[in-house]
Amino acid sequence: MLSANELRQKYLEFFKSKGHTIIPSASLIPENDPSSLFTTAGMQPLVPFLMGEKHPAGNRIVDVQKCLRTGDIEDVGDNRHNTFFEMLGNWSLGDYFKEDAIKWSWEFLTDKKWLGLDPNRLYVTVFKGEDNIPRDEVAIRVWQEVLANSGVSNGVANEDEMIKAGIRIIPLGKDDNFWIAGATGPCGGDTEMFYDTRPEEGEINAKFSDLVNNFRLMEIWNDVFMEFLKTADGKLEKLAQQNVDTGMGMERTITVLNGYTNIFETELFVPLLDKIAELSCKKYQDNERAFRIIVDHIKAATMILGDEKGIMPSNVGAGYVLRRLIRRAVRYGKLLGIDEIFTFKIAEFVIDMYKDTYPEVKKNKEFVINQLTLEEEKFAKTLENGIKALKRIFAKAIGGIDPENLPKGMIIKDNVIRVDGNEIFHIYETYGLPPELSQEIMTEWGIRFDEQTMKESNEAFIKHQELSRTASAGMFKGGLADSSEQTTKLHTAAHLMLAALRQVLGSDVFQKGSNITSERLRFDFNFGQKMTPEQLKKVEDLANEQIAKNIPVISQEMTLDEAKKEGAMGVFEHKYGDKVKVYTIGDFSKEICGGPHVDNTGVLGHFKIQKEESSSAGVRRIKAILE
Ligand code: SER
Repeated sequence: MLSANELRQKYLEFFKSKGHTIIPSASLIPENDPSSLFTTAGMQPLVPFLMGEKHPAGNRIVDVQKCLRTGDIEDVGDNRHNTFFEMLGNWSLGDYFKEDAIKWSWEFLTDKKWLGLDPNRLYVTVFKGEDNIPRDEVAIRVWQEVLANSGVSNGVANEDEMIKAGIRIIPLGKDDNFWIAGATGPCGGDTEMFYDTRPEEGEINAKFSDLVNNFRLMEIWNDVFMEFLKTADGKLEKLAQQNVDTGMGMERTITVLNGYTNIFETELFVPLLDKIAELSCKKYQDNERAFRIIVDHIKAATMILGDEKGIMPSNVGAGYVLRRLIRRAVRYGKLLGIDEIFTFKIAEFVIDMYKDTYPEVKKNKEFVINQLTLEEEKFAKTLENGIKALKRIFAKAIGGIDPENLPKGMIIKDNVIRVDGNEIFHIYETYGLPPELSQEIMTEWGIRFDEQTMKESNEAFIKHQELSRTASAGMFKGGLADSSEQTTKLHTAAHLMLAALRQVLGSDVFQKGSNITSERLRFDFNFGQKMTPEQLKKVEDLANEQIAKNIPVISQEMTLDEAKKEGAMGVFEHKYGDKVKVYTIGDFSKEICGGPHVDNTGVLGHFKIQKEESSSAGVRRIKAILE
């Protein structure tokens, strides 16, 4: 048996022994990345460094990163999809490349001192070349060498992608072996490692994709060789440096290491499933899907609420995803017959599970429990009425029939119905039943709304949203945008604003969070009352004075202690480990920050505050722009 904690420790220790510096996980909520609601991969917080910026911890780093992907939320419930997950990653920022990355991956996986997996049960895929990028002959050669050294077969599969006697390396196209986080950004070909979970079925003689689809092969690790930048017009440019970005899936690796067949059998889920069994008096074996959805969603919600950024359920952006996760879990809880308020009881186990790796979840325990309970109470009160309203809509559409008791033989064409999408949105507005959940409940009755219906409801939803960009960019998709020039400018403006706020309101004022798009900056800070128009004007004037002075923005690396001694501000100061980066703007502002920033305040234009409002108790929120 190898516990999750042992795996994390071994991984960090192994790469430390190869000259890597250990850095802590970044927040689950990306900073200054308007296109992505959550951190979806270990590489995401490191993008500036993959693009060439110098990382304070050096050019070899290793971490365990909290991640969240909601793109596959409908698939949660099968045996390998989950929303919150951890990624073990080692990084070369313009240092080593394919040869070392592959050799170290293999050593860590197979050496008895580390994971000691049987080399005979491992298979690898490589990039076969496409779109004018050649086949990855280097990766193939290195793999052939390491496999031969371990005394296992090392043949390369043909175009037919068949694994049979002697074959262990499978070249695949860009859909499988070319990795990018979103539409644009750093990217490159990759090599992925798979584990044979059922060797008892005998020697493999099958197509690679079939083996993945029937779960005999489980992907555990992906080494991406990032050497390109995909630009907004779809072109691939060479990056200034060659990087390695690897991601080992924590949950899957623990699964195979302990001989389980799916992630829900591991210590990362079992205590949560047991608690659901106790609360519902039902058996997991009889209700796998519902149990899995509930524990997955509550775990994700707990990690979001417990994150250092501390966001709350709301109707927009990440807050809406959080709301939807909690509400979906509650609904499945009700289906299992859990009548009490229960999500916080599961959250307590989640906090216990992760408190040593991510101390912030323990620190924020009270907030997590309160928010979950509030949201669950709100939803539970109206869920029943929401479902009644949904039934009324259904009945109106097909003539007074109860969808849960469809007459035998009744035919609805393709099981699809058309109603006014605004009514579906109205159910959300009135009863808090998110449109996707309405659709899902209908599916359980065997019917779906047609596309037009969902489109209308989505449009009504977007209109209602304060930030339509999150929805139009794909509410549940991850991905990265270019870190545009305007975003960088607004980021520097945020530093000026914080310094100005502290001059005007007092030095007890600290940053509580920020979110920057290319249009505006949003900034939360602690302050007990509404700011007066005079105070707002003063803050604007101070920031604009600094802009007019054309002050250089200087970045320096130093230890955290040195930074503190110099009086640098820093909210997320633990993020970069021992060494931190400090940005200084004259004698006006000094902050610990990962960047990026403009070189000189003179390029910023005119700073203007558009709105100042309450964000939560004791926290104010400013929205500001550069004109
Ligand atoms: N970025 C790659 C992934 O997410 C490897 O870390 O799979």
